[in-house]
Amino acid sequence: IIQEREGEWTSNEMIEILGFRIPAFFVYGSQGPELLCDFITNFQTKPDDVFIVSYPKSGTTWVQEIVWQIYHDGEISHNVLGDRILYIEKALLPESTHLDIKSMPSPRLFKSHLSYDAIPKSTDEAKTTCKYIYVARNPKDAAVSSYKFMGSFGTNGMNAPWEFYAKLYIEGKTVYNKWSDHVLGWWKHRHDPNVLFLKYEDLQKLSSCHLESDLQSNVRMISKFLNKPLSEEVISLITEQCTFKGMMKNVQSFTLGDKIEGPKFLCKGVVGNWKEHFTPELNQRFEKEVLAKLKGSGLEFDFEL
Ligand code: A3P
Repeated sequence: IIQEREGEWTSNEMIEILGFRIPAFFVYGSQGPELLCDFITNFQTKPDDVFIVSYPKSGTTWVQEIVWQIYHDGEISHNVLGDRILYIEKALLPESTHLDIKSMPSPRLFKSHLSYDAIPKSTDEAKTTCKYIYVARNPKDAAVSSYKFMGSFGTNGMNAPWEFYAKLYIEGKTVYNKWSDHVLGWWKHRHDPNVLFLKYEDLQKLSSCHLESDLQSNVRMISKFLNKPLSEEVISLITEQCTFKGMMKNVQSFTLGDKIEGPKFLCKGVVGNWKEHFTPELNQRFEKEVLAKLKGSGLEFDFEL
């Protein structure tokens, strides 16, 4: 972690704000960490704001695209997703400042990886509060996905060996700290009327009744939660367009700044990829030091589908 230095930051470096490690390049240049802290702490939500939240690499892009299509009746946009839905922690970067937060049309859609405690909330006395959709993924797959993503930044990318990265991940020394604290912090609020808690594995699963995929029932559930009723035809269209295959047709939308050769938010899109990367020892450490923290919470994950 580096708190201060001159010049530009690389994607390897982290900085701490609001008790969280975030990539240092989110605040590089003239914008110091204090400015970002102030911005997040003083952010004024509107009742119809929607935040799509997760621990990194848990399916955020997937849910963002579903939400985008729900609000646009199944229409596909070829613009980069990051230009359509503002990542709140990156709001002060020059690349984001064209999105004028105050004049963004309602409902304003935001992406965030902040904890429940740190995320902007309504201070409105009438308690008309905005909505949060949280998506959680099993930490073994999220760790592998994170490692690959961090390594995909070209010369600025991370080049640590996987074993080393996995150890930092278990200890909560990668971005956004410990997976279990993040997920359990949001899980506690899963019954709040303005919180919808989803699981990546449920979006992937085939429904037990075989009449429709679980993605379809999740799309319907999200549209209900957002009070945006859609016809069954549009629900089916969105489901089709938001499968991994469907989203791959528009893959340039899910990159950082339209650069297809750079880091991508669509990679393998499967459950269980961790098995190709975990030794039995590493698996044991994940079970003991990460997953054991869920005990008694009622939160469980499918590790293979
Ligand atoms: P993998 O790296 O395991 O492939 P995030 O958006 O939070 O960064 O998460 C990215 C992960 O979600 C990547 O996982 C990506 O492939 C997966 N993903 C994105 N869209 C998906 C979809 N439609 N179906 C399945 N997985 C998807």
